[in-house]
Amino acid sequence: MSVLSGKHILLGVTGGIAAYKATFLVREFIKKGAEVKVVMTEAAKEFVTPLTLSTLSKNEVYSSFTNEEDNNAQWNNHVELALWADLFVIAPATANTLSKMANGTCDNILLACYLSAKCPVYFAPAMDLDMYKHPSTPQSFEKLATFGNIKIEAGYGELASGLVGQGRMAEPDEIAVFIENDISEKLPLKGKKVVLTAGPTYEAIDPVRFIGNHSSGKMGFAIAKVAASLGAQVTLISGPSHQQLEHSSVNVIRVTSAAQMYEQAHLFFNDCDIAILSAAVADYRPATVATQKIKKKEGEMTIKLEKTLDILASLGKIKQKQFLVGFALETQNEVENAKIKIKKKNLDLIVLNSLNDKGAGFAADTNKVTLIDADNKAYPFSVKPKEDVAHDILEHIIKTIYV
Ligand code: CTP
Repeated sequence: MSVLSGKHILLGVTGGIAAYKATFLVREFIKKGAEVKVVMTEAAKEFVTPLTLSTLSKNEVYSSFTNEEDNNAQWNNHVELALWADLFVIAPATANTLSKMANGTCDNILLACYLSAKCPVYFAPAMDLDMYKHPSTPQSFEKLATFGNIKIEAGYGELASGLVGQGRMAEPDEIAVFIENDISEKLPLKGKKVVLTAGPTYEAIDPVRFIGNHSSGKMGFAIAKVAASLGAQVTLISGPSHQQLEHSSVNVIRVTSAAQMYEQAHLFFNDCDIAILSAAVADYRPATVATQKIKKKEGEMTIKLEKTLDILASLGKIKQKQFLVGFALETQNEVENAKIKIKKKNLDLIVLNSLNDKGAGFAADTNKVTLIDADNKAYPFSVKPKEDVAHDILEHIIKTIYV
């Protein structure tokens, strides 16, 4: 999956011959799963029509501060448009627009969006050779770099004027790949290894029966997905769960019992940076597993249970550089019990779910958690979809260890 998937991209098109390539760029971004809105200068409309760009982007195209076709002239809110964007890509970026951007000029809606944008800004210069070489152009580049804007280098080749040299806008597919690589490089968990446990465990009684619990695995799978989207290499050790996750950075290892989960978690823990144990591991298992199906008899039946090994506590004992996170599902004295667990299992963070909270629990799509750190500081969150909860957990970890 592309890192552009789900991103809001505001594409700024300015007036140069390369503006026709903006149509391919819109398609390239959409192919990668992004949503695209286009803002263009009046001059750009000489080279490519708003109709083409709105048809391809499936969104209205903005070129002035008001919507002129509307008799009740509607205001096109550039601030809203800029805040909508996760990325602002100006391609092609002419010498004129680059100079205006560098100097804070604001005489069209594209520049107003630029000045209002809080997101990363990329620009792909496109101009004739001599304009590219003029001393004012590198000055614009330098100034824009100090604003944190990112240049997508123009290519060499034959230019529309017939001159040969630098100034050709990078090809649309190159622009998309450049942005993907740039985002990937800057992801906060880039190069980090995350180990996760998720789901229930099943402890066999005989070949057909087991002791299990209602854990769906949704929370752990959501953390895996979000961790991967933040750049991590994820090992997800899951007990029996219907959840699926196809991601090139996630290795899903399916296990059944607590003992198997214990073995796999220890196999991957040494080499990881962050371990998050969200599985609802059985605390007890049948002391002996019948090799044949147990036949029913008259009267009561008792199964002798023995304790399973506590994976989290064991990892807490051998922990070195790893950031270790546990989950706690409590019904009473929640915060106090969670704090005790942090100490007892040598954790860096605990994610507390209270069964008393509405919207929290095993099979739900939402969760309500309180994060408690090793200094006993508590961070309560509201009820949210599990993927948003995963974001909260991972952002807290990133802030604690990497910022
Ligand atoms: N855990 C584990 N291995 C076990 C049991 C629990 O790794 N055999 C982990 C869970 O994945 C979770 C945390 O420990 O991160 C949850 O602990 P919990 O079961 O709530 O607490 P316990 O320590 O088992 O204490 P109690 O059941 O008394 O609340």
